[in-house]
Amino acid sequence: MSFDLVLFGGTGDLAWRKLMPALFQAFRHGSLPEGGRIIGVARDDLSDDAYRELIQSRFEAVEGAKRPTAEEFKEFASLLHYLRMDLSKPEDYARLADLLKSRGAGTIVMYLATAPALFTQVVQQVAAAGLNGAQTRVVLEKPLGHDLASNRQINQAVREVLAEHQIFRIDHYLGKPSVQNLFAMRFGNALFEPIWRREHISNIQITIAEDLGVEKRGAFYDKTGALRDMVQNHALQLVCAIGMEPPINEHADAIRDEKLKVLRSLKPWTSETIPLHAIRGQYGAGTAYGKRVGGYRDEPGIDPESRTETFVALRTEIANWRWAGVPLYIRTGKRLASRDARIEVNFRPTPHAIFRSPPNAVNKLVINLQPKDGLELHMLAQAQNDRQRNGSSSRRLGPQLAPVQLDLDFDKRFGIERVGAYERLLLDVIDGRLNLFVRSDEQEEAWRWVEPLIDSWSADGEPRSYAAGTWGPSASSAMIARDNNSWSEEQ
Ligand code: BG6
Repeated sequence: MSFDLVLFGGTGDLAWRKLMPALFQAFRHGSLPEGGRIIGVARDDLSDDAYRELIQSRFEAVEGAKRPTAEEFKEFASLLHYLRMDLSKPEDYARLADLLKSRGAGTIVMYLATAPALFTQVVQQVAAAGLNGAQTRVVLEKPLGHDLASNRQINQAVREVLAEHQIFRIDHYLGKPSVQNLFAMRFGNALFEPIWRREHISNIQITIAEDLGVEKRGAFYDKTGALRDMVQNHALQLVCAIGMEPPINEHADAIRDEKLKVLRSLKPWTSETIPLHAIRGQYGAGTAYGKRVGGYRDEPGIDPESRTETFVALRTEIANWRWAGVPLYIRTGKRLASRDARIEVNFRPTPHAIFRSPPNAVNKLVINLQPKDGLELHMLAQAQNDRQRNGSSSRRLGPQLAPVQLDLDFDKRFGIERVGAYERLLLDVIDGRLNLFVRSDEQEEAWRWVEPLIDSWSADGEPRSYAAGTWGPSASSAMIARDNNSWSEEQ
């Protein structure tokens, strides 16, 4: 079916970094439906050709196989159009309506890659121009609002003019192949389900570490911080994928109903638990990629006295029958020791030891999200040469076990050129598939859960400092050590 994709914020950071590359890959893979138009919208005065040249110049900076050849770009560029708009002016939406009507595409996607403060205005104007018909789908980028009240306000305004099935709240972590595989692992295999519970699992750790700093997004980030930028959305969606009950089928509402229950079961914060179980940090000067780098407050666009957190570590629990008493640790941050996102599920030790095992050796399932994409199952095995090495006396103590792991690398197994998160999600929007998008009640519940932290942190105190290139403030290790656990790099 033909489509028009209107990209509000068509010259912005997201359009360039994520959306255009994803659209190009979809085009290259032949998965973009034929006869579509991609209409960039922004305030700059550009012709279609000037917009195409701008996009081309950006693509020329891409290294390696992801860069289009001249021939490929020429074909892709024929899909690109541009419309100059002032988003506050009704007459500009009328011009957009004319452009869309000239074509009468079966599907119209409005992608709001703008500041969230503009979302309400844009959807209201889109509706006032009569562009909210059944063929319209609206994509809203995160963070949707900056707290529960503003999130509700946006959701309400959007729902006044569009039905829920027309609203695609994007969280690109749900589109990552590794997160797809987490669902496949849990719900496509019967193996894990019986042990996926408190009786067998001792704790779960979710890490989303970035080695990058705030780059050129200082002005946005300083108002946002790691809690709103990463925890409220990406990290909590991973918590849902790990903690949810099996959905009755693969339909959007069946999945979202189960995710919602997890969010509702998260232990609420109290004035006692916040200081103990919620650690915030901000990077100071340190090292990145082997070079000295400045601290957060020295980055462009950042208030020199900023109290914005660039690191968060939390300890919580999913308080239900499956998970009660299992600590769930979440941490994320910028300028950490490496780019590394993974979920570690630590199993309980054997009930009775008959072997000698290395200290702290337990079974562990590691779900690697990035840069590696795969599964590791950490186990203990008996080394072949145990007897000769340890002599006969060790036999009396029982054989020494050694840690080994089963390693499944999805990139090797399925090829590195798999469909990226934004590519997958953009195609889902065009197809009208909502499974991997977030419903408003999920989003509100996630805001409700983080809000006591926002309030407490904005009321007083400062984030703890950590050196760029490390794993965050030492308080994060101390928090988990109080449970006799440790982050994996400390094990
Ligand atoms: C975005 C955040 O949602 O996710 C960024 O706004 C962050 O601050 C990015 O860098 C991380 O995404 P990925 O896919 O690189 O892990």
